Amino acid sequence: MSETTTGFDTGGIDTILARYDGFEGHLIGILHEVQKLYNYLPREALERVSEQTGFTLERLYSIATFYNFFSLEPRGKHVIRVCTGTACHVKGAPRVLQEIEERLEISSDETTPDGQFSIEHVHCVGTCSLAPVVVVDQDTHSHVKPSKVRALLKNYEDKG
Ligand code: FES
Repeated sequence: MSETTTGFDTGGIDTILARYDGFEGHLIGILHEVQKLYNYLPREALERVSEQTGFTLERLYSIATFYNFFSLEPRGKHVIRVCTGTACHVKGAPRVLQEIEERLEISSDETTPDGQFSIEHVHCVGTCSLAPVVVVDQDTHSHVKPSKVRALLKNYEDKG
């Protein structure tokens, strides 16, 4: 197990980096994998990536803040992304988002106290014909209605 002086385990990051033969051109993929490991991008993780790849911390942060699928804050076990792009907005996304927020008793960009769910709103996820769209973890839910939100969330609660 590899650790920083603060006790942060970097072993998983080193395993990820070992799979790459050169880092240029793979930075987004690497950050994706690191985020998958921690569910967000902790500062210590970015420092380790910087040390091992030679990319500056500034460059890593500029990528992490440019793409909205990266998060620098801890997130819930399940991340609910509600598309609020134009097509989804027109088809009722604001009401769907409101229903999710009310059911989980948190607002967008927040995480439930038990760490189970985070809500984010995103712009067009590229499946406008399925509007309104909600993406939970890797699952895309199409034509979501406020009346379906309870069942949708239950499905993930049951997964633990
Ligand atoms: S606007 Fe929601 S998928 Fe395009």
